[in-house]
Amino acid sequence: MFRKGVVASSPGKFILLGEHAVVYGKPAVALAINKRFLCRVQPGKINVLNGIPINAKMHPHITYILKINGVKNITISTQSEIPSSSGLGSSAALCTSLSAAIKAIKNENIDVEDLANDAFNAEYEVQKRASPLDASCSAFGKGIALNCPKNMGKYIWTAEKGKNKWDIFEIPVPKMTFVAGYTGIKSHTGQLVEKVRKYKERNKFATDMVNEIENVTLEGMNCISKYDLTGLGRVMTQDHKLLSILGVSCKELNKLVDASLRYSYGAKLTGSGGGGSMIALTDKPDKVCETIRMHGGAPFIVKTDVPGVTLEQEF
Ligand code: MEV
Repeated sequence: MFRKGVVASSPGKFILLGEHAVVYGKPAVALAINKRFLCRVQPGKINVLNGIPINAKMHPHITYILKINGVKNITISTQSEIPSSSGLGSSAALCTSLSAAIKAIKNENIDVEDLANDAFNAEYEVQKRASPLDASCSAFGKGIALNCPKNMGKYIWTAEKGKNKWDIFEIPVPKMTFVAGYTGIKSHTGQLVEKVRKYKERNKFATDMVNEIENVTLEGMNCISKYDLTGLGRVMTQDHKLLSILGVSCKELNKLVDASLRYSYGAKLTGSGGGGSMIALTDKPDKVCETIRMHGGAPFIVKTDVPGVTLEQEF
C-alpha cells in the first residue's frame, strides 16, 4: 500500500426504462442521481468492514472486489446516502467506489471502464445473472443507455456474457424533474431476476413481455431525443404495467405509482422491483412528494446529470 488512506464515492441510479429485459440483452436507460456511496480504505492487518471482519456470505460484492484486486489487509469504512436494496443502485455504487479506492491506495492507474466491468462481474457472480447497466451508471455517472440507437449518445464500452452483448453509451441528460418514492421494503434483485428467468423458461408469454419492454424502451429513447416529456411519461407507465405482468411489482409499488400519476407525465417501479422504489416524471414535484408520503412511501426530488466515480480524498 502506497498511501495511508483514500476516500472514493459513486452515485446511485434509477432505471428510467428497460429493467429486467436488459438482462436478456434488450435496451435500457439509467440516470445517475445525487445520492452517493462513500468508501474509505486504509491499510490494516486483515480485511475489515466498519469495524467487523469481512464475511463472504454477508458481503459477497465486497469479497469479490477484494479477491480480484488481491487484497487481504484492508480496513474499509462505508457511508451511504442510498438505502441498501432500494432499487437505487447501492451495490454497484459500493463496488465501483471500493474498486477505485483500492486502486488509488495501491497507486494503480484508475480506468473507469475497468471499474464498471469489475462491478458488473461482481453483480453477475452474486445475482448469477445481471446486466452491466447499474455498474456502468455508477462508474460513468450522468446518463447511460444500453443497446440504444447509435446516434443517441457517445459509445463507451461493450460487455458480453454468454449469448448477450451490450453496447454501452453515455447519453445527454435533458432537463427533467423526477421524484423517487421508496416503499421501505427491501428489494431482492437476485431473487427477482431468477423469478423472471423461470417465468420465461415456463411461459412464452413472459418472453412476449420482455419483447414488449424492448419496444416501449426504444420508443422512450426516441422521446428523450425529441424532449417529448408527455410521450416519455406515457411509455414509463406502460413499462410499469409490463413489469407488473412480469410479476416484479407489488401492491405497495402499484399504490405509489397510481397515486403519483395524478400529478405526473408517467410513473413506474425502478430497479428490480418487489419493493424498493418507484420513480415519477413530473413538473409538480412537491405535489408528487406529498401524495407519495400520504400513501406510505418516502419521497425525494431527484437531481440527475451528476458525476460518476470520484476520488474525494487521498492522504
Ligand atoms: C437491477 O437494478 C436491474 C435489473 O435489470 C437487473 C440487472 O440489470 O442486472 C433487474
